[in-house]
Amino acid sequence: MGGADCNSTDFGADCNSTDFGAAAYWDARYSSPSTGGKGRGGFFDWYQAYPALRPILRACVPTSSRVLMLGCGNSLLSEDMVKDGYEDIANMDISSVVIEQMKEKHMDIPQLTYMQMDVRDMSLFADGSFDCVIDKGTLDAMMCGDDAPHGASRMLEEVARITRPGGIYMLITYGAPKERLTLLNQARCRWNVELYIMPATPEYQLKRSNGASHASMEKVKLTVDGQLPPDYVFKDPESNFVYVSYKSDTASENNSIVGGQGETTTSE
Ligand SMILES: C[S@@+](CC[C@H](N)C(=O)[O-])C[C@H]1O[C@@H](n2cnc3c(N)ncnc32)[C@H](O)[C@@H]1O
Repeated sequence: MGGADCNSTDFGADCNSTDFGAAAYWDARYSSPSTGGKGRGGFFDWYQAYPALRPILRACVPTSSRVLMLGCGNSLLSEDMVKDGYEDIANMDISSVVIEQMKEKHMDIPQLTYMQMDVRDMSLFADGSFDCVIDKGTLDAMMCGDDAPHGASRMLEEVARITRPGGIYMLITYGAPKERLTLLNQARCRWNVELYIMPATPEYQLKRSNGASHASMEKVKLTVDGQLPPDYVFKDPESNFVYVSYKSDTASENNSIVGGQGETTTSE
């Protein structure tokens, strides 16, 4: 049985029949060569890869930051960040299969650590342990799980707890502000949110002189109640959303949703 928010083409029609929050589903997927699990060396990146995300990561997250990658899967993101200078990235996933594969693959990279863990219970991590928590597709999986939306709320409470005041939760998702900001605001945490939108399909991306496509990133100002501007026009109907959420430093700050307008960043 699927969850409450199953409308992404990436998760596909299976979203109504598959429990994307279940360890058994992901263990089977990471054990099968046909679904990205090819053991040591196999990889698959959901939505966007490091070259497209680099401008926003380098702008918001210093390389000395203590980073946590939620639901890391066998994505190349953490490995590529370390190649680009990041010094400390803890990776976790509910699938023991993929965690064992990634431990073996990266045994010689001390900047990368791997732990089997459930995002709904990260009690191994102390409050405020991370400068930045990155989530590419894991909240989406939770929202397509049997436990949705309850599991997603528990996950976001844990994210808020382990992020230090002033730290960042960076969410890369197919979920539009209407759904995702409602969830974030339920996490008993004050987040200041900036939104970026990126085209997901190559035909809407910029072309390099060699013909390769690369994603541009547009910073979009949200309305006061956390919606897209009513006249906002998507360049790509299958766009991805990047929410850069800053945890408030003080308990007295109000929940606020902020964003700049019309700035465009491109990745090279
Ligand atoms: C859509 S995939 C994204 C993988 C990777 N982040 C990427 O960008 O390619 C979702 C990941 O979340 C993991 N996951 C699902 N439920 C989880 C949970 N409750 N706790 C931790 N990880 C979970 C899955 O095992 C899977 O690796």
